[in-house]
Amino acid sequence: MSTQLTPILTKFWDHPQSWTLATYEDNEGYQALRQALDTPAADLVQAAKDSGLRGRGGAGFPTGMKWGFLPPPDGGPRYLVVNADESEPGTCKDIPLLMAAPHFLVEGMVITSYAIGCNHAFIYLRGEVVHVYRRLMRAVEEAYAAGYLGKNIMGSGFDLDITVHAGAGAYICGEETALLDSLEGRRGQPRLKPPFPAVAGLYARPTVVNNVESIASIPPIVLHGAEWFSDMGTEKSTGFGIFSLSGHVNRPGQYEAPLGITLRELIDMAGGMRNGNRLKFWTPGGSSTPLFTDAHLDVPLDFESVAKEGSMLGTRALQIFDETTSVVHAVSRWTDFYAHESCGKCTPCREGTYWLKQIMKRLEDGKGLPGDIEKLDDICDNILGRAFCALGDGATSPITSAIQYFREEFEAGMHTPWFELFPPERSTLF
Ligand code: NAI
Repeated sequence: MSTQLTPILTKFWDHPQSWTLATYEDNEGYQALRQALDTPAADLVQAAKDSGLRGRGGAGFPTGMKWGFLPPPDGGPRYLVVNADESEPGTCKDIPLLMAAPHFLVEGMVITSYAIGCNHAFIYLRGEVVHVYRRLMRAVEEAYAAGYLGKNIMGSGFDLDITVHAGAGAYICGEETALLDSLEGRRGQPRLKPPFPAVAGLYARPTVVNNVESIASIPPIVLHGAEWFSDMGTEKSTGFGIFSLSGHVNRPGQYEAPLGITLRELIDMAGGMRNGNRLKFWTPGGSSTPLFTDAHLDVPLDFESVAKEGSMLGTRALQIFDETTSVVHAVSRWTDFYAHESCGKCTPCREGTYWLKQIMKRLEDGKGLPGDIEKLDDICDNILGRAFCALGDGATSPITSAIQYFREEFEAGMHTPWFELFPPERSTLF
């Protein structure tokens, strides 16, 4: 497998007007739609399955299979909802994609809607990113004006409307059922699954919920073929993805590469570690995934290999920390985040994240009490698999993995504050 890739979704991000319809059309834009509208819908679902595309929002569920879960048409509406509520700490790929090339998403949504028989699709956008909302609205308006949206798209007889909805800034609304509740105008809290949205989603109708990058990958798959896509990446983690690198590298940013690339190769692409420092720890898939260390530099970043090493590929949010960083301090920030963002619906997450936050703060300040490390492990054990949704599980991952790899730093938290162990003037992040 070659780790280098001809850029696909990031191909024309450097163009000064990359987000316009004109630039998109100059780069094969809407050609896949033309082709798709001449193809039976079932063949498009099959192409998505054959490509092996797995959801790019974090869970990696096969996209074509998800579409295939929709029950047969019954004359009522069915919906496509794009999850653009990108909020996972470190995850920064959907928002740059929407800023740079929003028409990939719009075209992908029209193709997907046609494939699944949907005439009204929604984009649920993270509320804080008002600039993205404006750009997305502009792209949708351009697509309407050009006849790519609305009635009788490109003379095919197929109709589609897209509604862009901005959330109000709650991490939990990225969980697909909380997102649906929020879209319906309720307080965003997760629903029990099953039923999965494919059966009873928006307004209790069959609904496909897909991530931005998943849907944006559909036009290239239609245009170049399922095999073109599945030839990239690894056998079970096919294709390419956008990896977001942040933290202690020389050129943080988005790097598009086949799945299966390693962190070592990505750090090279990002100009190496900042100040030539040594890598200490990193997240393969955002802060909800167990930490990796420098021992994992050569783990192929595909779903299976990362899981085999005890973590998750998640959203490919690679947050990179060097030797100047206090792991207790860094993890404590994430713990604050989860405690703040817990929706409060279930007790293990609501109470557990609050307790975790207090203990992490003690250890951070060098005021840890005897038994605190064991208490952290015990609380995590009582949240993991017992919370209503993945938020609770995610809150435990950085803590348990940090204790596993850096227990001595937690022990030092019994008597020494983090800033004495890692003086801030030496640290390049905090
Ligand atoms: P999940 O594994 O429960 O579900 C994945 C998808 O497959 C869902 O759309 C679900 O409806 C569908 N699905 C699964 N089994 C199904 C069945 N039997 N029938 C029909 N549909 C089925 O994972 P979940 O809770 O949706 O997502 C968790 C992931 O989200 C985490 O792994 C994490 O990486 C990621 N995440 C991403 C964030 C971001 O900002 N992008 C934020 C936080 C977490």
